Amino acid sequence: MSCIDKEKLYNNPINQFHIWFCEALSSSELLPNAAAFSTIGEGGFPISRIVLIKAYDDNGFLFFSDSTSDKIEHIKKNSKASFLFYWQSMERQVKVSGVVSELSNKESFRYFLKRGGCVGCWIEDKTKILKVRYVLENKLKDVLQLSKSDIMWRGYMLKPVFFEFWQGCEESLYENAVYVYGKNGWDIKNSNYKRNI
Ligand SMILES: Cc1cc2nc3c(=O)[nH]c(=O)nc-3n(C[C@H](O)[C@H](O)[C@H](O)COP(=O)(O)O)c2cc1C
Repeated sequence: MSCIDKEKLYNNPINQFHIWFCEALSSSELLPNAAAFSTIGEGGFPISRIVLIKAYDDNGFLFFSDSTSDKIEHIKKNSKASFLFYWQSMERQVKVSGVVSELSNKESFRYFLKRGGCVGCWIEDKTKILKVRYVLENKLKDVLQLSKSDIMWRGYMLKPVFFEFWQGCEESLYENAVYVYGKNGWDIKNSNYKRNI
């Protein structure tokens, strides 16, 4: 797998994420939208679990969860959290840290209707018809769950302040590109070659 071409890095990390995500969709990854979601739990210890990202755009990354779950209890106390995507076949990982907020049902439906960037990739890629169906079925399931009167299943948005794009390279090297959100918007902090192990 080739390393990160610094000339081609987008200034906005969401655009960079979109490129990598679309490439992950075209790869052999079974669940490219699965991410380890880490929150700060009891005693200040971080804890992770897998969630599925349903959409992303400049507002952040959308996922759904039971509002009574531990992870949501955690973010009520500390809204800082992170996602880790791992695309093994491409030797890539993406870390995203940010602040999580709960969406209203109306906002959640709006995201479904708008169909976030990730679904756009699925539909554009005609060779991935099964994946299209998989995602749409998932979305339908989420909409049905949301429409129940006693809903506990809610939409949550992580607004990012930090990204690391990590690419494994030849001979146990890796390269990364780090984006940090500051006063003047997104800043690309570094992009280095390092030894993997
Ligand atoms: C492939 C996969 C996808 C999952 N997707 C979600 C999801 O989108 N939302 C969710 O709340 N839990 C999802 N889960 C379950 C979580 O990993 C976790 O077990 C559950 O949400 C309870 O976590 P908590 O007790 O830490 O809150 C998924 C699990 C797997 C293995």
